[in-house]
Amino acid sequence: MVDALAPVSPSERLLCGPGPTNVDPAALEAMQRPMLGHLDPELHDILLDLVAMLRRVYRAESGMVLPLQSTGTSGMEAGIANLVERGDTVIVGASGFFGKRIAEVARRSGADVVEVTAEWGRHVRNARLLAALDEHPHARLLAVVHGETSTGSEHPLAELGAEMRGSRTLLMADCVTTLGGVELDFDGWGIDFAYSCTQKCLGAPPGMSPIAVSDRALERRRRRRTPVPLSLDVELLRSYWVERPATYHHTAPILHIYALHEVLRQILIEGLEQRWARHAAAGRHFQVRALDAGFELLAEPEHQLAPLTAIRVPEGIDGKAVQQQLLADGLEIGGGLGPQAPAMWRVGLMGPNADTETADRVIGALIAAVEREDAPVPG
Ligand SMILES: Cc1ncc(COP(=O)(O)O)c(C=O)c1O
Repeated sequence: MVDALAPVSPSERLLCGPGPTNVDPAALEAMQRPMLGHLDPELHDILLDLVAMLRRVYRAESGMVLPLQSTGTSGMEAGIANLVERGDTVIVGASGFFGKRIAEVARRSGADVVEVTAEWGRHVRNARLLAALDEHPHARLLAVVHGETSTGSEHPLAELGAEMRGSRTLLMADCVTTLGGVELDFDGWGIDFAYSCTQKCLGAPPGMSPIAVSDRALERRRRRRTPVPLSLDVELLRSYWVERPATYHHTAPILHIYALHEVLRQILIEGLEQRWARHAAAGRHFQVRALDAGFELLAEPEHQLAPLTAIRVPEGIDGKAVQQQLLADGLEIGGGLGPQAPAMWRVGLMGPNADTETADRVIGALIAAVEREDAPVPG
């Protein structure tokens, strides 16, 4: 019988699925600090510090940068809600669950969506996206997923941004699984709207969605014919997060703000390039060991994402049973996402878990669990 008045006592887990990852202990510690009110000028200074650090992590000196009080999905929705109006054309590169989700969000906003698709595990070639742009030169927005967490594929975003220079179509990038873990240069690559989340390579708890918006995207937002939903309106959010004196917009999630502030500080102390290199080394180490053990990876090798590896479940193995075995030992990995996903395991090495020791632990446990599953039934 469950005691309804007992406090929650969750088990210890090593979170090596597609996210959330384990929280950086420094962020957990920051969340214990004294709670300020959302209209306290002391908090407003903290917000400005946070924005300044977030600019460095996104490499976004221009435009506007701030975290939404929401998850990655609302970051996606904020991009569409601010930049797209009913009847606009939106081109989406979709070769996995989250590309499909962008298309769905755009469709729900009344956009005419041109979906350019590829098989799961491959990325949609830039040439095909550019061909769609040639066919729809008045498209308002072109969107891709930088790190497709459902397949482990990394989109060549720098090259796409370079090809789109001079186009009037805005470039939106889903950076949920890349911000703070994979090279990203918002200004340098010509991105107009990027969104992320806190629970992956940043190593904070879920609940915030850092976004970056270019100057020309802000200009498009100002010239809209129709209003933006209030909670996602970047102009209104700016009046709380960046303009001083701050204007009330919503009651900010103070403790999550402390956590995000702390992980951004940790990233800049570690060094952004060093952090990307740490994620690359951990991911590569895991992938080499997985291939050596005879597993097949879903993504194309030259476009393999570092923080997330998707492994095809070998023929005759019950993938879910393997996940359950690992979870019973305190290790969480993911399975396939959505009905279209091939049978797979998804392993994330993100934030504080992006190191070769953790990679060794996960691959060792996975091999042992598969061997147990594969064992002939006694008798
Ligand atoms: C690439 C990508 N985009 C968007 C999302 C949605 O983020 P959230 O679950 O925080 O809403 C996720 C979540 O895993 C993701 O991996």
